[in-house]
Amino acid sequence: MRNPRPIHTVIEPFRIKSVEPIRMTTRDEREEHIREAGYNVFRLQARDVLIDLLTDSGTGAMSAEQWAGVMRGDESYAGSDSYHRFKEAVQDIFGFRNVIPTHQGRAAERILFSTVCRAGDVIPNNTHFDTTRANIEFTGAEARDLPCAEAADLGTPGPFKGNIDLEGLERVLAHPSGRIPLAMITITNNSGGGQPVSMANIRAASEICRAHGVPFYIDACRFAENAYFIQQREDGYEDTPLIDIAREMFSYADGATMSAKKDGMANIGGFLATNDDGLAAQERDLLILTEGFPTYGGLAGRDLEAVAIGLYEALEPDYQKYRIASTAYLGDHISAAGVPIVQPPGGHAVYIDAAAMCPQIAPLELPGISLTVELYLEAGIRGVEIGSVMFGHKDEDTGEPVAARSELVRLAIPRRVYTQSHVDYVVEAILNVYDRRAAMRGYEITYEPPFLRHFTAEFEPLG
Ligand code: F0G
Repeated sequence: MRNPRPIHTVIEPFRIKSVEPIRMTTRDEREEHIREAGYNVFRLQARDVLIDLLTDSGTGAMSAEQWAGVMRGDESYAGSDSYHRFKEAVQDIFGFRNVIPTHQGRAAERILFSTVCRAGDVIPNNTHFDTTRANIEFTGAEARDLPCAEAADLGTPGPFKGNIDLEGLERVLAHPSGRIPLAMITITNNSGGGQPVSMANIRAASEICRAHGVPFYIDACRFAENAYFIQQREDGYEDTPLIDIAREMFSYADGATMSAKKDGMANIGGFLATNDDGLAAQERDLLILTEGFPTYGGLAGRDLEAVAIGLYEALEPDYQKYRIASTAYLGDHISAAGVPIVQPPGGHAVYIDAAAMCPQIAPLELPGISLTVELYLEAGIRGVEIGSVMFGHKDEDTGEPVAARSELVRLAIPRRVYTQSHVDYVVEAILNVYDRRAAMRGYEITYEPPFLRHFTAEFEPLG
């Protein structure tokens, strides 16, 4: 008999076997901590943070199966069983011939771009993540962002706002201002609000690249979340298993970079994959120089096991249903109370539009920093600015600072870590800060390093 009253509550599809205490602090303590941190939440000590939404990278909880894999880890220097299990999992899902393990995503990026890029080259992408951009620029090449038009309208929802601008891609490839060693697409589009990319967009971008003889790469960090969005939102995929959607996505690509700290469900790890054997040989030479032997690439055997298992767990339908529902729960609750967010909520994170929330703070007065500080002071919550500190730059001619395209604060949700009551607490705290938004003020930078400044910069409140 059919259940006459189906249950709609989406639950965490796991129970908890091991717990880790988190520590409350007083507002006075937090005021001291944030001042000592130069108002940069990256400089806070984790023990002084209650709910840590700084990143979803490497912060997830591993499953009992993954911990069992850790015990099975084969720590042989060369040719370990763990490497073979890792390689087989990656080949099964991603389909690439050459699988090069790296300690995390940016190591794969550094090896890829220092192998293929020269000064003056151009690498198009829907939106480069900060480490991707930095690794490209470090070679003297240009990282060119080509987000789709809908991405600019932060507050208007759309199913695939992470898409690449196909006409823009065609234009760049047809009239290149420099050599184009490869083009990329980032799924989901992290810097563009955690928004997914459609299968149609991946397929079309791949066709454009092939027509121009340019290799097409995928930055695969959140491939499983992207696959789930395709299943939920794109015609023709509603009944396709996530693993088959993933296989189709990567069938259009010539290679991939991956941070397994995201949808690898591991605390460390990554890989670089390609179908180009000659290129892979060059990449392995560089890997040996800085990461390690090609069968471990800077990882322990136990880490390779955790990733091999985690990649499949990320594709489990109950897990993705809960994952995407819990991010949407946070986004929808604060948005319903008026907080401006990038619509719709992303897969791994909710992005608050700090510029829209605090119009009294000019972009170069860093509204995103102001909001991250307020969230910490209010409730010990740590988010991250994705705005002019992370993506602003100095004008080449005048040296004057130029603001980023948007001033966002990202609240990234670690995988399988926080429960619904944690999320309810975060909602309440954000709404308290929202109520007193008119009293918030801007910040200025008092120290910055030459690149990736957001990690270590220091700030002072204005006025
Ligand atoms: N590409 C994307 C889209 C990312 O989001 C990240 C990391 C990387 C590459 C680099 O991977 O950290 O393993 O070296 N993003 C994290 C974040 C740090 O917080 O979004 P990594």
